[in-house]
Amino acid sequence: MRLTKKDLLGIKDLSVDEINLILETAESFIEVSTREIKKVPTLRGKTVINLFMEPSTRTRTSFEIAGKRLSADTINISASTSSVVKGETLIDTARNLEAMNPDVIVLRHSASGAPHLLARLVKQSIINAGDGAHEHPTQALLDMMTIKARKGRIAGLKVAIVGDIAHSRVARSNIYGLTRMGAQVAVAGPATMLPRAIEQMGVTVHYRIEDAVRGADIIMMLRIQMERENQNVFPSLREYAKYFCLNRKNIRLAKDDVLVMHPGPINRGVEIAPDIADGPASVILEQVTNGVAVRMALLYLLSGGRS
Ligand code: CP
Repeated sequence: MRLTKKDLLGIKDLSVDEINLILETAESFIEVSTREIKKVPTLRGKTVINLFMEPSTRTRTSFEIAGKRLSADTINISASTSSVVKGETLIDTARNLEAMNPDVIVLRHSASGAPHLLARLVKQSIINAGDGAHEHPTQALLDMMTIKARKGRIAGLKVAIVGDIAHSRVARSNIYGLTRMGAQVAVAGPATMLPRAIEQMGVTVHYRIEDAVRGADIIMMLRIQMERENQNVFPSLREYAKYFCLNRKNIRLAKDDVLVMHPGPINRGVEIAPDIADGPASVILEQVTNGVAVRMALLYLLSGGRS
């Protein structure tokens, strides 16, 4: 089976078959990263541009590693070292990159919809590496891969997503993906961090962490996004941590074999206690490992590869 899309813009656009195709292809790429020589010639001669207009550690690095492990030529551009600082627009930047004939452009941008705009303008495949508070599809795919690897399935699992749901592109993409794959999703956070009509996305809504994590198979904690908090949506970090930090006490309400996830970067002691982040239930670093395989799968499938 092939991925017939030109671009990967969001989980909302993906069918169950397409999600399964990406996850199965990613599973087949895991092994490459365990070899002594971590390289296959699959994308030799292809060029991948990572255009990151917002900071990133995990996503940018793993796209670069993914491209290199598939033998693609990978180029990284960040806002601070590009002509964006001289006033060049995103559209002009993209058109100039297009003129150099790459095959894939990976875009992270603070504006929701920026990758969708580029996808309409340029002939290359566009991969959304996070657009504003809208979607972060590759994060949701690596999260689903991690859940499937540990639990053997996604359907029927109870997943609690806790924190700043309103600002979280990770939450939005995971809600689309997990509900489509048959999981039951519960969200929790302060009322000021829960978007209006979030129930319409097929989730149950709670205002206390305890109510969301009770009986959960998976707890996904979200980062408090200081860079997007332009209103006082909670009194202080201490207050937030008091009511919404995942800790030794409230995690006991979840199933005994609960998995704890976090997309990173972590605010230790704010949304997650350090002993939980580093404890036996945590799969946070497995998420990072699986991120390379998911991004290898997407570069491969969008370049015309078959499962
Ligand atoms: N999870 C995630 O997107 O992390 P980075 O911002 O470091 O890429």
